[in-house]
Amino acid sequence: MSRIAYVNGRYLPAREASVNVEDRGYQFADGVYEVCEVRDGKLVDAPRHLARLQRSLGELRITQPMPMPALEFVMRETVRRNRVNYGLVYLQITRGVARRDHAFPLQKIAPSVVVTAKNLSYEKNQESARKGIAVITTPENRWPRVDIKSVSLLPNVLAKQAAREAGAYEAWFVDKEGFVTEGSSSNAWIVTADGRVITRKADNYILSGITRAVLMNVLEALQLRLEERAFTAAEACGAAEAFVTSASQIVMPVVKIDGHVIGAGKPGSVSTRLREEFHRFAHLS
Ligand code: PDD
Repeated sequence: MSRIAYVNGRYLPAREASVNVEDRGYQFADGVYEVCEVRDGKLVDAPRHLARLQRSLGELRITQPMPMPALEFVMRETVRRNRVNYGLVYLQITRGVARRDHAFPLQKIAPSVVVTAKNLSYEKNQESARKGIAVITTPENRWPRVDIKSVSLLPNVLAKQAAREAGAYEAWFVDKEGFVTEGSSSNAWIVTADGRVITRKADNYILSGITRAVLMNVLEALQLRLEERAFTAAEACGAAEAFVTSASQIVMPVVKIDGHVIGAGKPGSVSTRLREEFHRFAHLS
């Protein structure tokens, strides 16, 4: 079955789906995106993803191409047409097409909208979670507005590649003060020996993850203690547990940081429980 992509109002076979060479997303990374998990053919936490999308668009003054319920419909329709049962849906909106000039175009242009969806292997993901992943650290080199979910991801791409070359799965950015900001495509968490769950507060230096937000509801319901504060790579190395969160990984236990074994070297009980409980609190539509 050929994959179907939504491009500016049309559902096309992926090989026919293309964007203009003067799309500002292509030339300047002048655009934003969202990635939503798909479970049982349904979107996980779409309202929160769309609210964040609206914020990202507003911060960059990109016109909202259509009402949010219409965007959600396109996402669901792309999932349906690609027969995705478990996987991801990707939505990207760029400022649009204009002759190349760094400043915004003078005339009003229509934003470009692309939506794709893909199946993932549930079993593979579960297998990673059973084993836990390795993480490396890398100096934070991104701009101080990574709260905007922009498609400008070059430092993230290079960090992820460095992780892969080191035999790890994720890279954690560490700022000048030695504090972990977040992963190249996930938020970073640790658990202390006395069971406190720690993650950096959502300021301009991290993306305010939707999985992170839902997990906070889970922590509250399970009466686990949350501390929203920065932690250093050294504190993480000495922590009882560590994990990352993202729409694609949900709660993914970390068992190694820069070669240091975390806790008992296998996924901890808190991380595992949070992963198991997560979808009881997620919204499906
Ligand atoms: N990444 N931080 C960064 C830099 C991210 O790219 C992501 C998500 C997150 C977690 O956000 P959420 O819980 O809303 O997925 C944090 C997505 C999955 C991606 O780029 O593929």
